[in-house]
Amino acid sequence: MEYSPFSRRKFISLTTAVIATGITPAIAKDLQPTAKQVEGPFFPKHKQIDKDADMTNVAGISGKAGGEPLLVKGRVLDTSGNVVANALIDMWQADMNGRYLHEDAPESSPLDQNFQYWAKIKTAEDGSYSVKTIKPAKYAAEEDWQRPPHIHFRIAKRGMRELTTQMYFANEPLNERDKLYLETPAEQRSSITVDVVDGEVTFDIVLVRV
Ligand SMILES: [Fe+2]
Repeated sequence: MEYSPFSRRKFISLTTAVIATGITPAIAKDLQPTAKQVEGPFFPKHKQIDKDADMTNVAGISGKAGGEPLLVKGRVLDTSGNVVANALIDMWQADMNGRYLHEDAPESSPLDQNFQYWAKIKTAEDGSYSVKTIKPAKYAAEEDWQRPPHIHFRIAKRGMRELTTQMYFANEPLNERDKLYLETPAEQRSSITVDVVDGEVTFDIVLVRV
């Protein structure tokens, strides 16, 4: 039986696709774990009822948080590139004045009553998460130490090593003078540094299985 050129091409492309799939399984990645960072002294301990994925609004208050809006999104993955569903993410940060919702917070500016300060969310089935927030301001950790803008994260999931870290913004001059940022080896800093593009950042988090 003779094959027409068309069906032969079709057969070849199908065979190639099968071989390619066999050679390159979807999970054959080897991702570097996201670098850890210290928790810092301002993990929220106040009772906070609203801990949803919109930090620019507090339930029961009609106002909007001040500051530059920012969407933080990404996926939680393991080092093989598998997505991690139902990972619990705590995310907390300073407001537009560099103030935390914490009694020991260093800035004397008043709290932003419209800012949520803390989100507690879970990743979806595809490992994704997204949080609406604002870009935090820098703040004075000590008299001669200005901390660059950053957002704190803690990620927990059974079977994975819990990760506490901080996410930094690229091209912030204070990054290069920040004791905590510089504690992370230079070759690992890209794992905790994001670019703002059109008001969004993508922060993928890679956890280690235990
Ligand atoms: Fe901080």
